[in-house]
Amino acid sequence: MGVFGRNHARIYKELEEQGEPVRLLGVVDSDVDRADAVAREFNCKAFGSVHQIVTTHSELQAASVAVPTVHHCSVARELMNAGIDVLIEKPLAPTLAEADELIRAAAKHKRVAQVGHLERFNPAVRATLPILTQPMFFEVHRLSVFTPRSLDVDVVLDLMIHDLDIVLAFAKSEVKEVRAVGLPILSGKVDIASVRLELESGCIANFTASRVSTERVRKLRFFQPRQYVSIDYGRQEVHVFTVGREGAASGTPSVNPEISVSKPAVASEEPLYAELKSFLQSVRKRSELLVPLEDGRRALAVALEILSGIRHHAKKLNLTDLAKVKN
Ligand SMILES: NC(=O)c1ccc[n+]([C@@H]2O[C@H](COP(=O)([O-])OP(=O)(O)OC[C@H]3O[C@@H](n4cnc5c(N)ncnc54)[C@H](O)[C@@H]3O)[C@@H](O)[C@H]2O)c1
Repeated sequence: MGVFGRNHARIYKELEEQGEPVRLLGVVDSDVDRADAVAREFNCKAFGSVHQIVTTHSELQAASVAVPTVHHCSVARELMNAGIDVLIEKPLAPTLAEADELIRAAAKHKRVAQVGHLERFNPAVRATLPILTQPMFFEVHRLSVFTPRSLDVDVVLDLMIHDLDIVLAFAKSEVKEVRAVGLPILSGKVDIASVRLELESGCIANFTASRVSTERVRKLRFFQPRQYVSIDYGRQEVHVFTVGREGAASGTPSVNPEISVSKPAVASEEPLYAELKSFLQSVRKRSELLVPLEDGRRALAVALEILSGIRHHAKKLNLTDLAKVKN
């Protein structure tokens, strides 16, 4: 029960206390002291392995997998083999082979299996969906202060993948070209990256992700015909700037273009709370998932292409250490 897994436990307990049809049976961590501490906090049982919990609790139906990414596949596979539905944290896996294995296991065992791209459940993102028309240019920043966590993967798989998933979901187009630069700063892996994607639709998306920043920023801005939309994931705010008919789109430059600013209503909610509630609903109703494993694979494929672009760029610059850096 690491740092993020504890959040999952907290929310399942909250849902239970709010009368949702769910009961937090237990938490699992190979570090038993950690599992004990979280189990005490949320009044459930602690287990040292998946095997222990599935053999003790035949009534177990669903589980969140929030172990380090390199262990997602083995842990989620064991759960699905035992007939348990899973929500697997992002990134889905460190490799496409493991992502495919998870997709196959979910199909074979007929499991509800969701990937934890929780920004899809961010109320600011949900409030943007109805106003999406044809996004043509994205500018995305996700900056974090360094913490010694999630260092089993680089910043592209750790942070940028959230925005890759959102841009791919918004733009609904495949990636045509990747340009990327990235550097290790404090860990042995890429800690800061700047990426430019060109999509088949002609849409361009620029991403900056850093886990060695002095400030925390979570912003996605995009342009679509006659509109500029700015999303602040952290503040859960959306601003929409719309150019009136007399503005630039009319073809005649205007000194005073008519620009209206609006702020779609956003009902504040913790994205993880909304994500787990939605997952549990799919488990109960066996209904379609908002973010299936295939979406996690799609974001992972682009992230891995970006990492290969970063290595390629490093080779050109003779940054030999970085050229050898693995995911
Ligand atoms: N969605 C998000 O915004 C978000 C945020 C943070 C982390 N995450 C994801 O959550 C996952 C966990 O991240 P974290 O920061 O909590 O990591 P962490 O290192 O704090 O915790 C991982 C825990 O897993 C335990 N563990 C390792 N292998 C295990 C196994 N085989 N069986 C049982 N327990 C095992 C470790 O003992 C540790 O306590 C990662 O995939 C990460 O990418 C997602």
